Amino acid sequence: MDKLIIEGGTRLRGEIRISGSKNASLPILIAALMADGDVVLENVPKLKDIKTTLELLTLLGCHSVFNGNHEVEISAGNLVPEAPYDLVRTMRASVLCLGPLLAKLGRAKVALPGGCAIGSRPVDLHLRALEQMGARFNLESGYIMGACKRLRGAHIVFDFPTVGGTENLLMAASLAKGETILENAAREPEVTDLANFLNACGAKITGQGTSIIKITGVTSLSGSRYRVMSDRIEAGTYMAAGAITGGDLLLTNCPFEELEAVIAKFRAMGVYIDKESPGVRVKAEGDLVCVDVVTLPYPGFPTDMQAQIMAVMCVANGSGMIRETIFENRFMHALELIRMGAKIKLSGQNAVIRGGAELKGAPVMASDLRASASLVLAALRARGTTEVQRIYHLDRGYESMEKKLSGTGAIIKRETEL
Ligand code: EPZ
Repeated sequence: MDKLIIEGGTRLRGEIRISGSKNASLPILIAALMADGDVVLENVPKLKDIKTTLELLTLLGCHSVFNGNHEVEISAGNLVPEAPYDLVRTMRASVLCLGPLLAKLGRAKVALPGGCAIGSRPVDLHLRALEQMGARFNLESGYIMGACKRLRGAHIVFDFPTVGGTENLLMAASLAKGETILENAAREPEVTDLANFLNACGAKITGQGTSIIKITGVTSLSGSRYRVMSDRIEAGTYMAAGAITGGDLLLTNCPFEELEAVIAKFRAMGVYIDKESPGVRVKAEGDLVCVDVVTLPYPGFPTDMQAQIMAVMCVANGSGMIRETIFENRFMHALELIRMGAKIKLSGQNAVIRGGAELKGAPVMASDLRASASLVLAALRARGTTEVQRIYHLDRGYESMEKKLSGTGAIIKRETEL
């Protein structure tokens, strides 16, 4: 397994180009199987999860080519309605093929995604909503067996604004008979990007980005060329890198409006963040102060940035509290940060961070995608050498992280353990 060796203490300076969004690319790639014509997607990041999604599309009967310049071409062949366990267990987002398969074929056999490091992550809200559209499910040896005639439009109210649930239903409803209303729908920008892609293929979706989305079913979807949005969580992670190292970065191809809650918190900590052509400038030359953070569905502070801002708070002055409301077990990075000298007290969904820590390099273990990012951030600041192990977690969601960081002065290298 690969690991990263990082010498801390360098103030990062220079330019970082933000890649395409992982969490927009995954549902859009899967939605492409619903199109009767060829789909070309631009700005797709080179990530492990993208590779896994293309493997899933191949198993489902699609042909795809990922060519050099971040472009993916997909053509759906004779679809096969089965997503096997040994693939789904490596990427729970595979469950997003449920809606498209039911809409296209009227049947689906998708392995039930297990839990993962950050929580149980059931899919009950996806299934209940699809049942309202006429699908029937049963569970057989760990597989969700789904079947339906043509899905019919329904008025669905989600108990929780589930991102994946909203995405599954957007895709299913696009080819259903009649109108579907999704209430308490997720408002994340990646959901909006999926809706915009589906509309580019001829779907009739309105209200994306708000909590009430209307979809009028059509009989078929055409192919299209579509550019995936930039990755707001990758961008937020590099804002945290500029903050924690007291650096001065220019992030290009960088979202801004979609990061409002994150930017507001970093500004409150004393970080300068503003649009400066051709990108977004991040400067942190003075002392930072801790803030309080509650993770919430969009447009609140994103849970996917919780681990990263915790690392920055460890070295800021004062103290602050982080409350994680989306996942039940998303503080594992805290235990590793404590091993580097951070002063964090965990109590249920709350973490109290006493700032002003002198972080010291240490061997640490990544446990999930964003936890690994937070350990890299801490290592960039820590005195001495840090070894971040199990960075396959990082490779799932960050394109060429060590290259982007070393391009701004970080002393970082990857070691491949044979
Ligand atoms: C998406 O996961 C993202 N993944 C996650 O990013 C992100 O953390 C999450 O949304 C919240 O923003 C992708 O987009 C591929 P949810 P998803 O359905 O769709 C519960 C990353 O780091 N829930 O909004 O799985 C669930 O258990 C990843 O890039 C149910 O109870 O998120 C969780 O506690 C990590 N029943 C909460 O809702 C359901 O049927 C949020 O889940 C569905 C969800």
